[in-house]
Amino acid sequence: MHVIPTLTGLAFAKAVLSLALPTTGITLPAVHTDTRSSPIHKRNPVNTRARTETANSLSSYVHKDGPEGLGVKNGTNPMQDNGKIWIGNGGDWEMTFANRNNYPVVLVTWSASPDYAPDQGSFVQAQPPDIAIEIPARGTKVLSIKDGLAKAGFSAIYPGMGLTSNGQIANTIGEFTTGPYATIDVSREVYMRGEGIRISGMSSGCISDSQKEICAFRCITGDTCWVAGSYDLYGYKQQGCNRHITIDGLGNKVAEGGCDMGQNRSNILVEFF
Ligand SMILES: *[C@@H]1O[C@H](CO)[C@@H](O)[C@H](O)[C@H]1NC(C)=O
Ligand SMILES: *[C@@H]1O[C@H](CO)[C@@H](O)[C@H](O)[C@H]1NC(C)=O
Repeated sequence: MHVIPTLTGLAFAKAVLSLALPTTGITLPAVHTDTRSSPIHKRNPVNTRARTETANSLSSYVHKDGPEGLGVKNGTNPMQDNGKIWIGNGGDWEMTFANRNNYPVVLVTWSASPDYAPDQGSFVQAQPPDIAIEIPARGTKVLSIKDGLAKAGFSAIYPGMGLTSNGQIANTIGEFTTGPYATIDVSREVYMRGEGIRISGMSSGCISDSQKEICAFRCITGDTCWVAGSYDLYGYKQQGCNRHITIDGLGNKVAEGGCDMGQNRSNILVEFF
């Protein structure tokens, strides 16, 4: 039977973006868009397809200060079961993150935490992410995820990439929640000009792909979006992808859904292009 999720990673992400607005009273971090100090200038963040790949693979572009040198907090990077998400095998869910580029990227993941306001995890300039590790050129990293993880997400920092004015990674993101209605999807809402992310391997057969816009959230117009009605789930008419509309507290129609992660806990593949 096809289960329609009642609450999804996307719903959480909407809350994240809503809370980004100053009405929350949180102090938003200063704008970080200065990538001039980066040793790499070849990435063109406007036309990502025109990005120039260096002839020789970069061994690393991460500053000696680690992720902090890139503008995000260091990850806590647990190496064993911490009840949430950790580096290595053995979790209820496993996600293999594959970097398909000829240069390293920095994988960053976040989730809900009692250490900060709900839904604030993606603001990784202000809040330490769960994981912030480099994936070598053409390399992979495996993370384990406990069932019942909420408000979780991930992205990757590419050479020369900055943050949005709200302190989120200026890239496509993935978002998920595990549990009875485990759902995962890619979203271009934070930054429409981001790089490609593809998620596959779910036992539901669903694929979420930002470049092909299948089971992927995007803005209807504009470069970034969070207001109800300004985004939607595209390419949802495929196996394992659900889209439904809920009404928020203000009476707005809110698109929700994503890929059903399946009842059986497969090893999910996340590819960064
Ligand atoms: C962040 O990590 C880097 C090494 O990757 C380290 O040099 C730096 O001291 C760390 N910052 C904090 C606040 O722990
Ligand atoms: C999940 O695994 C169980 C036990 O191996 C099996 O009985 C069930 O058919 C599987 N369900 C799906 C949807 O593959």
